[in-house]
Amino acid sequence: MIETSDINTHPVANSRISELDFDNIPFGRVFSDHMFVAEYDNGAWKNFEIRPYEFLSLSPANTILHYGQSVFEGMKAYKNMKGEAILFRPLDNFVRLNKSAVRMCIPELPEELFMGGLTELIRLDAQWIPDRPGTSLYVRPFIFASDDYIGIRPSDTYKFIIFTCPVGAYYSQPVSVKIETKFSRAFEGGTGYAKTGGNYASSLFPAMLAQEKGYHQLVWTDGKSHQYIEESGTMNVMFVIDGKLITPPTGDTILKGVTRDSALTLARDWGYTVEERKIAVDEVVEALKAGSVQEAFGTGTAATIAQIAEIGHEGVDYQLPPVEGRILSNKILAVLDDIKLGKVEDKFNWIYKV
Ligand code: COI
Repeated sequence: MIETSDINTHPVANSRISELDFDNIPFGRVFSDHMFVAEYDNGAWKNFEIRPYEFLSLSPANTILHYGQSVFEGMKAYKNMKGEAILFRPLDNFVRLNKSAVRMCIPELPEELFMGGLTELIRLDAQWIPDRPGTSLYVRPFIFASDDYIGIRPSDTYKFIIFTCPVGAYYSQPVSVKIETKFSRAFEGGTGYAKTGGNYASSLFPAMLAQEKGYHQLVWTDGKSHQYIEESGTMNVMFVIDGKLITPPTGDTILKGVTRDSALTLARDWGYTVEERKIAVDEVVEALKAGSVQEAFGTGTAATIAQIAEIGHEGVDYQLPPVEGRILSNKILAVLDDIKLGKVEDKFNWIYKV
């Protein structure tokens, strides 16, 4: 791990923490005092700094503004019952960031740079970690190409930045989703598994069309046949059908969600039958008609466990059972909270003490 002495730290003169209303935290609009910055040049990561959160100065020719060579991550920090700052599964985010980076021709980060910068930043801004139920400190690490060059080629220089923001719920109510059977998010050989900005940008238009019809989000289907369920715009999707937990397998086209893995691990540990397999849209629609879909929910860092109240498919909206009676997803959410708070044993080693 890089040491405190390797990081040039310039703390803020005056913290903005007193401006934060801990009882009313929106998602993604309030940013903590500091950010961690590293630069890549001449084949090496260097110039490690923690400095006040501030605007970046970029040339209009900066390649990131044109061609989107960037990757990002999302994870959360919490305060446990003893008031200690913890991160949930940060090494999984580190591994996924590098996997995304390889696909986008971005140099990988050494683990000690990622973990060292992250640890020092969270320590310094620990007072920004909210502790009301449903709140957390969202951590956004990202790497972007930074050459001033408008030719098409991988950049020679990059910036790695981590900033954080105290957040409340991403979805404040159970969501209504539409199964998308026209537009595509990803395809085999593409970038669907990578956490890169373009995947999100290209999903905005189809999502907007669905939102105009009253849905919150899409459930994407495979780009080739549109016959199989993939993931939602902001989260992986899971169904409980006839008592079994079913979710599509990750691969080229689906993000390997950390919350997804946590939910599957807990369900397996509790003895549930868990099936990671292709799920046909027809299978879900038939099960919805037959009333055998007991639960449907999304999993994601921002979304946590987001209950799906309604699923739309080709003009028909299917209502799902009331959220209060959903045994598995409510238990997953409650136990994940208990693990983060240190109320129950962290038997899978998911907690990293800052
Ligand atoms: C996350 O869940 O962390 C994401 O990056 C998704 C985005 C909707 C905030």
